[in-house]
Parts: sequence; C-alpha cells; structure tokens
Amino acid sequence: MKILVTGGLGFIGSHTVVELQNEGFEVVIIDNLSNSSEEVLVGIEAITGKKPIFEKLDLREKPKVQEFFKKYQDIEGVIHFAASKAVGESVEKPLLYYENNLGVLVYILQELSKKNKASFIFSSSCTVYGQADKMPITEDAPVKPAESPYGNTKQVGEEIIRDTCKVNQQLSAIALRYFNPIGSHPSVEIGELPIGVPQNLVPFITQTGVGLREQLSVFGDDYPTEDGTCVRDYIHVVDVAKAHVVALQRLLNKKNETNYEVFNLGTGKGSSVLEVIQSFERVSGKKLNYKIVDKRPGDVIEAYADTRKANKALGWKAESALDDSMRSAWNWEQKIRS
Ligand code: WQD
Repeated sequence: MKILVTGGLGFIGSHTVVELQNEGFEVVIIDNLSNSSEEVLVGIEAITGKKPIFEKLDLREKPKVQEFFKKYQDIEGVIHFAASKAVGESVEKPLLYYENNLGVLVYILQELSKKNKASFIFSSSCTVYGQADKMPITEDAPVKPAESPYGNTKQVGEEIIRDTCKVNQQLSAIALRYFNPIGSHPSVEIGELPIGVPQNLVPFITQTGVGLREQLSVFGDDYPTEDGTCVRDYIHVVDVAKAHVVALQRLLNKKNETNYEVFNLGTGKGSSVLEVIQSFERVSGKKLNYKIVDKRPGDVIEAYADTRKANKALGWKAESALDDSMRSAWNWEQKIRS
C-alpha cells in the first residue's frame, strides 16, 4: 500500500518513513529540502534496506500538487509533516507561515476529497493548549488563543481538517498533538539536523556538550514549579514515529470512532529544564556549562500529556524514558560532529 509522507526528510518525518517501511508500507516522500537534505534518504535506506520514492516538490505550487496526485493515483494515505516550525520566524513572517502551513494543507485536502477513500494524519502540537489549567493535559482541554502565527496555523489547521471531514465522509483524519519530540534513531543513521542556532532545548544541550556552543541559557528559574524551571513532556522521536503508523492503521482498518480524531503524543511525564540537564550529564558523563537568564517570552510554565486516549484507542505507549531519548540525542550529536 502506497503512503505519501510530506516533509519525509525532516526530523519526525524521516523516523516515520523508517517505521512505515518496517511495517511493509510503500512510501513516497515529498520534500522541498528547505530544512532537510537528500542525504537523509541514505540513512533511511541503511536502516530499512529500502529507498523510498522521493519527489522534490514545493507543495505551495498547486498545479504541481495536482499533477503529483494524478501521477500517484494509488496513494491511499497521507502523513503530512511538511510545514515551517520556527515560532520566532512566524512572528516576523506570518504570511509565509499561513501559506506553508495552511495553504498547502488546503491543496492536499482538496486532492484527497476527490478520492473514494483516503486517510490523513496531521502534525499538530501541544502548543494548541497554551498554558492548560490542569495537568496532565487531556485532549478535551480547551484550545487557547495562539501565542504566535505558528501556533495559530496548528489550531486553524485542525479546524480546516475537522470541517473538511464533516462534509467528506470518505476522508478520515487524525491530528496528533506532539509534546516535545527529541532523540534520534538508535542506529544513529538519522536524527535531528537543526539549521543554525537551535531554538529547542535538547539540541542546544547536545551542541553545547560537543563544544559547538559555549553555554546553555536556562530561561528562568522562578516559575511556580518544583525547581523553578519550566516543565515539558520530552518524548523519543521513534515513539512519535510509531504512533503515526498505528494511527494510520486505525484509519485504514476503519477502527476510528468518528472520521476526525485528535490524540496527544507524549510520555505522560513532565521534566524540568534542570532535570533535562541532569539527564544529559548522566548519559554523557560530562558537566554542562549553563547559566540562568531571564524568562523567554511566550513560554508556558508546564505542559505534559495525559496519554490515556492514545494508549487505549491506538494501543500505543511511549516506551523510552528521558535518559534513553537523551542518550540517542547525544550519540547522534557525537556522530555528526566527528
Ligand atoms: C523547552 C524548555 C524553554 C532553549 C516547543 C516548540 C514549539 C511548540 C511547542 C511545536 C522551555 C527551555 C529552551 C534554551 C532553555 N510547538 N529552554 N534554553 O518551549 O516546549 O516549544 O514545543 O510544535 O514550536 O519549539 O520547547 O525545546 O524550545 O523549550 O531554557 O536554549 O527549555 O524555556 O522551558 P517548547 P523548547
């Protein structure tokens, strides 16, 4: 069975392609290489023994999208990762984000609406909850006004899919709300490749550990949490990837309860910034150079998932603990800098 993975050369996309191929799916990747490299195909092949079909294409070109779906009429499902993801950049360039993250989504859904049957998985984010009132966060927690155009594209993206599914019963979709994916494939053949200075905590830590950065700035230590630093739910990227496969199988086997569903993807465990640093120090045996600085505007105090809905409906559970995820992130960082 043929599955399209947009953004399949990116961080979460590439790990998902591996899991799909391991499960016997035939994968077609679309990627415009704006934040990834064709080299990732080599890593995917090294792990799975199979090279996925790759089409270099910019999904903003609607006629190209239409041509693609004419060429690959046998595509039965789409996992849609292709999107821009830098919160700060989205504030500077809102229209770029609305075009990349929403315009493209509309084009793909238009094509899928022409089919007799289609399955669609969307990369959403825990950012839709903002600062939730209760921890852990359940899927029925209210969606809060977005802090950035990026966050808004995830909220509106979900609404676009929900509304489309309402009038297209032949289309089934699942939105997966990721918490904080980290780590790399245990083979160390693929992993995260941030461009420039990483904005996310774990790549910044591993780059500091390897000597590429001088010092980690910890954004604030007087939050109302146990040690004063922010709390997040860090989940191994391979666990995230596996969840996509079971979500897709749920749609293909028609086990879904309605034709639009939402699931949290997290471990259910919150970790503070200082706990993440301690994890790094444990698995690497190195002391991390860090200092406490001012809070970063827009950061929520804490966010960790109630994972029961995904555990029950998808029969899926995150398997890796923080140290496992951190170890794989560290192994990857050492490999790419050696
Ligand atoms: C984690 C913690 C920082 C960097 C991510 C995505 C965002 C959104 C939600 C994605 C926070 C602290 C970080 C550093 C630090 N959605 N930190 N020093 O904030 O949860 O946001 O998930 O789809 O796009 O980026 O993750 O990794 O940026 O930060 O102290 O140099 O680490 O304050 O508490 P976050 P993060």
